[in-house]
Amino acid sequence: MKKRIFSGIQPSGSLHIGNYLGAIKNWVDLQDSFESIFCIVDLHAITVAQNPEELRKRTLEIAKIYIASGIDPKKSAMFVQSHVSEHSEMTWILNTLARMSDLFKMTQFKDKAQKEGQENSGVGLFDYPVLMAADILLYDTEVVPVGEDQVQHIELARTLARRFNKKFGQTFVVPEASVKKETMRIMGLDDPTKKMSKSASSEYSFIGLLDDVELIKKKIKKAVTGSGSEVKYSDDEPALKNLINIFSAFSGKSASEIVLEYKGKGYADFKEGLTKVVLDFIIPFQERFNNISDEQVLNILQNGAEKVRPLAEKKIEEVKERIGFVL
Ligand code: TRP
Repeated sequence: MKKRIFSGIQPSGSLHIGNYLGAIKNWVDLQDSFESIFCIVDLHAITVAQNPEELRKRTLEIAKIYIASGIDPKKSAMFVQSHVSEHSEMTWILNTLARMSDLFKMTQFKDKAQKEGQENSGVGLFDYPVLMAADILLYDTEVVPVGEDQVQHIELARTLARRFNKKFGQTFVVPEASVKKETMRIMGLDDPTKKMSKSASSEYSFIGLLDDVELIKKKIKKAVTGSGSEVKYSDDEPALKNLINIFSAFSGKSASEIVLEYKGKGYADFKEGLTKVVLDFIIPFQERFNNISDEQVLNILQNGAEKVRPLAEKKIEEVKERIGFVL
């Protein structure tokens, strides 16, 4: 019996190579050994203001990116969160178990609420982690592949699962987080102290998966390197280290092989090589992306929702029964 994994991405901005290397690429590798569910979490996306047309466009875009990256709809279920209404229903029920103090601890909330101030932030933003717990617990998920920044949210899902089980009897699987290796944490090209982010202030911070080739060349040219002239892999040169990590991830070569290859050469040569390995991935990737029609992808998402809905329906029934609802 394969273990089940669940993960998701918000359709709230353009995806970049950090999302690919840090998450999606890993999922592609996992889908053979796990029963996989990959979600496009639009309910999460609306916890901050979204433009409706943009949101719709991004939702399909992410699904196409999943497919172009190698997620195989025959092996994995791929669906839109709002297509399975049990996510919202389960969130409400889990809300009655979650405590304000659980949620006030969340660093992501503290960060995101800074913009408007906690008093003026949306209730949805505050409740975001409970919705995420609902996503995970609905499917008896055993393993949740996520980035380090989401571990605290998985911790809450574990707490809520245990709290429910204790109060109402064994109902939920207590999920485990699976965090990818540190080398896969891709940092901003303009600032290696910050994770590569779709909401960065400058677009020169990230390489978008759908950026055009000329723009990618320009972005790599502008990327911060090191203080000297030598290509070396060290914590003292975090910007260079990050670029070598990107080179390594796309080429399959180790950092030391890359350093050796560019020994005695300068940053310019290194960047040329980096551009080549990035484009060797991006160009065929975009070709695959462009070959998928909206119609095809809608079909795949519909099938995905149909595949997972019975699981969600069964779990919510069980939960309603446990808490004393008349069925
Ligand atoms: N919050 C996650 C992120 O921003 C996305 C997400 C939503 C998720 N629901 C999930 C990830 C369930 C894993 C499991 O990365």
